[in-house]
Amino acid sequence: MANRNSFLQPRPFLLLTLSLIIIAIAAASVDGSDDGAFSRPPARNVLITPHARAESEPQQVHVSLAGKDHVRVTWITDDKHVSSVVEYGTTEAGPAGKYEATASGEHTKYRYFLYASGTIHHVRIGPLKPNTVYFYRCGGIGPEFSFKTPPATLPIEFAVVGDLGQTEWTQSTLQHINGSDYDVFLLPGDLSYADSQQPLWDSFGRLVEPYASRRPWMVTEGNHEVESFPIIFPHGFKAYNARWLMPHTESGSSSNLYYSFDVASGLVHVIMLGSYTDFDSHSDQYTWLAADLAKIDRKATPWVVVLLHAPWYNTNEAHQGEGESMRSEMEELLYDNRVDVVFAGHVHAYERFTRVYDNKADPCGPVHVTIGDGGNREGLALRFKKEAVSAPLSLYREPSFGHGRLRIVDEKRAHWSWHRNNDSSSVVADEVWFNSLSASEECWPRKGGNVDGGGGLSARVGLDEL
Ligand SMILES: [Fe+2]
Repeated sequence: MANRNSFLQPRPFLLLTLSLIIIAIAAASVDGSDDGAFSRPPARNVLITPHARAESEPQQVHVSLAGKDHVRVTWITDDKHVSSVVEYGTTEAGPAGKYEATASGEHTKYRYFLYASGTIHHVRIGPLKPNTVYFYRCGGIGPEFSFKTPPATLPIEFAVVGDLGQTEWTQSTLQHINGSDYDVFLLPGDLSYADSQQPLWDSFGRLVEPYASRRPWMVTEGNHEVESFPIIFPHGFKAYNARWLMPHTESGSSSNLYYSFDVASGLVHVIMLGSYTDFDSHSDQYTWLAADLAKIDRKATPWVVVLLHAPWYNTNEAHQGEGESMRSEMEELLYDNRVDVVFAGHVHAYERFTRVYDNKADPCGPVHVTIGDGGNREGLALRFKKEAVSAPLSLYREPSFGHGRLRIVDEKRAHWSWHRNNDSSSVVADEVWFNSLSASEECWPRKGGNVDGGGGLSARVGLDEL
């Protein structure tokens, strides 16, 4: 606790007191942050990552995919006079700082009670070549960074982990992820665990910068991003939306809380859903999702991957039933469109299910994986419920920190592996091959099917037999 609050000590006493009151009230309203009565092993300390550069220099640099052949560069400056400009090119410029291209963008800032953010810059750059290292500089000052764009073809590899936080375990997980190359980072919610303590968002941004400035980080929101407060911030997501702008405009979504993107020239379509915004059949999210799925031609896009925060299938005692209302509204849409895999977070453990639909094993349903084991300060969800031995849906479950890797090898096959944090080393503890549902004769009956593109809502198995 002393470590967690040490960065606040130089601030005035009044600010500290007010912050603690706000945190206490807000924490009480954070959905699902209390995991019940069971005990967890001691979580590791929160790491506070200080700002070590000048006020005008960039901090918290991260990149994200932003529509076809484009990347968004985001960074924060304490100096409000810095331009939202990114210089970039395929040649290392070094101190000379001569780049092939320049792009301008926008900036924003926000207030949360007495906290005032720095200037948050967002600059979209491109068109960029695939599978290419770009060197870049933010705001015309400070260090040179580099990132690699994803490939235009398969294979492509995703690193997947949720509930990251900013502890020594988080550091281990990130180091393990960085130890082996990947193309895109996918995070199914719960980033900083700031929980209204806004300087922790800055600390998190600095902790992840060495990783998030090198590969695109694509995130969706968890309950720890909400940070709502009655009357003053009723809609929540103030910090999350300002800091982690995702390509919702580019994917036809009116909200930063759900969006989609293509990689590998559209061979893989990734959909990021929002567990903490409306999802019923009359909601904007539902309407957007139905339209987004209907646009997919599974001949051109054999792989469809979905991420969300609160798992729809979960045999852990923690967070039981919290994803059920979303599942009952949206599962049929995903099933009818033959989504291949659904990744969730929220439960601080790892669990992999068989292909499932409507609580039954189904060869045409998605594989569900819970990967909320990034290493946050709340610790692990240790207890799993007993499952039916005769027909288990859960095939592997373990309460350990770690991360996952989805390597989509070609149009038909993908390899999934879960890498447990064994202290300083990373060990593959679970692995499995997935087949794309787009190639399944059984799941795409010719009569009424849509493997040739569009729709898909009538393609449920057995529908043509009725
Ligand atoms: Fe969560």
